[in-house]
Amino acid sequence: MTKIAVFVGSIREGSTNRSLAKALEKLAPEGMEFSYIDINLPLYSEDVEKAGLPASVQAMKDTVDKADGVLILTPEYNRGMPGALKNALDWASRPYGSNSFTHKPTGVLGSSMTPVGTAMAQSDVRTFLAFSDAKTLGQPEVYVANAYEVFDESGEVISERWLKNFQLYMDAFSAWVANEK
Ligand code: FNR
Repeated sequence: MTKIAVFVGSIREGSTNRSLAKALEKLAPEGMEFSYIDINLPLYSEDVEKAGLPASVQAMKDTVDKADGVLILTPEYNRGMPGALKNALDWASRPYGSNSFTHKPTGVLGSSMTPVGTAMAQSDVRTFLAFSDAKTLGQPEVYVANAYEVFDESGEVISERWLKNFQLYMDAFSAWVANEK
């Protein structure tokens, strides 16, 4: 069994990034299991950390620590990753010396409603991953632009072209994670 911890950087119902995650899950090889992280966590504070990690934060860290790989699906908010995702990643990096992302094979993708396609948000996430000394899959890249043309209202992929891109991504990601195990 290959365990993948999945961060969806949007907490809204109907998130296209969640639709992207579900599409990738369907395309994953047999024996790969997705665990979805709840990023609706308390705001990071050193005071809270010192008092003891909240149960929801500990659960998130345990899921990442046990995972063979991580997928981060990020929207773009004002040319960066959303605050809720950054908060979750900040928690994952603590306590000092126990960054859950250190050496963790991690893939980054994103979906947005605009033609920008999360290029800057993904770059933001990659900066975090580089600093955390994570292993990051460089290619292929997936920047879903104009997401309303890619997913329908129920979250199904309606673009054949993008479905092929998602399959290519999962093939590359799963082979890479297997190699890193
Ligand atoms: C956005 N959106 C957006 N899109 C983009 O491509 N670049 C950006 O800088 C921004 N900025 C931005 C700021 C804020 C506060 C919001 C709420 C939205 C649009 C965003 O990509 C769109 O809402 C996506 O659909 C969000 O992803 P989910 O929720 O569909 O997963």
